[in-house]
Amino acid sequence: MKAIRAAFLDFVGDPFFVPESESVRYLPDGLLVIEDGMVKDFGAFETLGAKYAELEVVSYQGKLILPGFIDLHVHYPQTEAIGAYGEQLLAWLNKYIFPTEAKFRDKNYAREIASFFLDELLRNGTTTAVVLTTIFPQSVEVLFEEAQRRHMRIVAGQMLMTRNAPDFLINDAKTAYAQTKAQIQKWHGNGRLLYAITPRFAITSTDEELALAGKLKAEFPDVYVHTHLSENLKEIELTAELFPHSKDYLNVYEQFGLVGDRSIFAHCIHLDDSAFERLAEVGAAIAFCPTSNLFLGSGLFKLGKAKSVDRPIPVGLATDVGAGTSFSMLQTMCDAYKVAQLQGESLSPFQAFYLATLGAAKALTLADKLGNFEIGKEADFVVLDMQATPLMALRNRGGIPQTLETLSEQIFATTILGDDRAIAATYVAGTRVSEQLF
Ligand code: GUN
Ligand code: ZN
Repeated sequence: MKAIRAAFLDFVGDPFFVPESESVRYLPDGLLVIEDGMVKDFGAFETLGAKYAELEVVSYQGKLILPGFIDLHVHYPQTEAIGAYGEQLLAWLNKYIFPTEAKFRDKNYAREIASFFLDELLRNGTTTAVVLTTIFPQSVEVLFEEAQRRHMRIVAGQMLMTRNAPDFLINDAKTAYAQTKAQIQKWHGNGRLLYAITPRFAITSTDEELALAGKLKAEFPDVYVHTHLSENLKEIELTAELFPHSKDYLNVYEQFGLVGDRSIFAHCIHLDDSAFERLAEVGAAIAFCPTSNLFLGSGLFKLGKAKSVDRPIPVGLATDVGAGTSFSMLQTMCDAYKVAQLQGESLSPFQAFYLATLGAAKALTLADKLGNFEIGKEADFVVLDMQATPLMALRNRGGIPQTLETLSEQIFATTILGDDRAIAATYVAGTRVSEQLF
C-alpha cells in the first residue's frame, strides 16, 4: 500500500449535462491510497491523513493529479510518418501511410516502433489507448506484448484490408478472419489488454470481409469494433459508389452487424442527423480527432450535436497520430477548443478534460475500471505541472488553485500552452513509469 498527496481533479458526472459544481471533483489537498494497483481510498488529506498516518506518502506539492488520459483512436505504425506534407486523406494514405505501414511486415521493426509509441504515450500522460495496427499479425503481437510489459490497458486489433490499397497491404478476407480469431482468443481479456475488430474503413474492405468481421463480432460479442467513419468528402463519395445498397456510410457498418455499444468510430465529421440518432440509439462511440481533422483539412466535428441533451453520443478525444499532429492530449484539447470556436461554440476546460478521462472511459464501457479516482478503480494517473515552462509559470502564477474558477483558468491555459513538458510523471496501475522517459 502507498499514498500520494497532491491536488486532485476528476469527474463524477458529465460536465456537458451536469453543472460543474456537481460534475467536477476538486481536492486542493487530497490523498490517494493505492493497493495492488487499485484505488483503495481517496479523499481530502484532512479527512484521510490520520487514518493512513503509517503509510509512506509521496507528495507532489504544487502539482495537479488527474486520471490517466485515454486516447480513443491512434495508429501506432504511423508514429514515424507524423507531419507528412501537402495532402488530404486518400492521397495522404497512398503517398505516405501505406508505404510506412508496409514496413511492419518486419517483426523487429514493428517491436521497435511499438516500444517507442507506448513510451511516447506514457511521456504524454496517456495510460490507455485504442490503437490501430497493420494487416500483419506480427505487428499486433508485438504491440500487445510491449503493452503487457508496461501493464498498460490497450485496446487494439489487426487492421483488415482486402482492396483499394497497394498489393503489399492487401490480405485475404478468410485469412484475416482466422488471424483475428486467434488473436481474440489469445489477447482479449489477457491482463489489461482488450481486442478490437478493426476494418480500416469501408473503402478497403470487400463485402465478404465486412461480413466476416460481423461474424466475429457475433461470435465474440464483448470485443470492440473500431474503424473510421465519415472523415473526408472524397472518401464518402467513394464509399457510396462501392456500397450502392447502403443508404449512407454508417449503414455499411450497420448492414454487417458492426454498430453497437462497443463500436468506436473515428471522425464522424460529415454525418447527418439520422446517423447521429442511430449512433445514439445503440450507444456507439465517436473518437473526436481535432488535430488530425485540421491537419488533413477534413472538416469540423460537430461536438455540440454529438453531445446534445436529447440524444447524446459517447465521445472521447483522440490524437489519430500520424494524421494527428501531437501525442499530447493537452494539445488535442487545444485544437478541440479551436474546432468548437470555429463553429461559434465554447468547449469548457472541464468538458475537455472529461473527454480525455471519464468521458472516454464511458465511451469504452470501461467506466467501472477507469476514468476517475473512485475506490476500486485502476490507479492510472498523471501528475500535471501547470507551470512547466516559463510562459506557463507566468500565466499560472499563484500556486495550486483554491477555487473551481481559478482551477478552470489554469487548466485551460495548460491545454493551450502545455504538452509533454507539462507531464511531470505518469503512473500505471499504481506504479510510477520510469523517470528515464521524462
Ligand atoms: N481512414 C482510413 N485510414 C485512415 C488513416 O490511417 N488515418 C485517417 N486519419 N483516416 C483513415
Ligand atoms: Zn485514424
